Amino acid sequence: MITIALSKGRIYKQSLPLLAAAGVEPTEDPETSRKLILDTTQASVKLVVIRATDVPTYVQFGAADIGFVGKDTLMEHSSHGISEMLDLGISRCRLSVAYPADAKNNGKRQLKIATKYVNIANRYFATKGIQTEIIKLYGSMELAPLVGLADCIVDLVETGNTLKANNMVEGEVIANISCRLIANNAALKTRHSSINELVEKIGAAVNNSAK
Ligand code: PRP
Repeated sequence: MITIALSKGRIYKQSLPLLAAAGVEPTEDPETSRKLILDTTQASVKLVVIRATDVPTYVQFGAADIGFVGKDTLMEHSSHGISEMLDLGISRCRLSVAYPADAKNNGKRQLKIATKYVNIANRYFATKGIQTEIIKLYGSMELAPLVGLADCIVDLVETGNTLKANNMVEGEVIANISCRLIANNAALKTRHSSINELVEKIGAAVNNSAK
């Protein structure tokens, strides 16, 4: 049995054609079903549909053998017990620092940064030698500078429309983001051939879709 963990929404929708090309099609739609474990057209492959931030945890502890997860979520999580196998080339965006368009450098010694990516932000600003106070939020990061909660944000930018609509500008790009296929290290050793066979099929689907 191979269990694949992935999140509802954009990653799920964009992953479906890749999975289908690898011969794996869910027999139910997670958007309408309340089931958390979905059967697929392959009796030996199941899908678990969970929150994006939980995908690395399921794979790390072997509750799922394979996961589809954004590079942002992966960078924020410990990589212990996990191998990144493929760049799936879907859900592309940037993880960037963004500021209010009218921000002034008023000589503050400590920048207040609102983000859900606390670990990434800490690492990034530490390497730049900038003192920060990180404020953890769970969504709508763009609001924080508008209401004086933070000087800037670290968040995903795709079209830039959310920043523009809130009179903010994109600053430094911390990382280019896309969805990655990860695998549990122990499963890679003990069930090498079955897992590798599926990863190779998905990899071929990625290459074909890029043509
Ligand atoms: C993401 C991200 C930005 C927005 C960027 O939010 O956090 O707010 O998309 O996209 P854009 O550059 O195309 O405007 P999402 O809608 O995924 O919800 P979230 O606030 O829960 O992260």
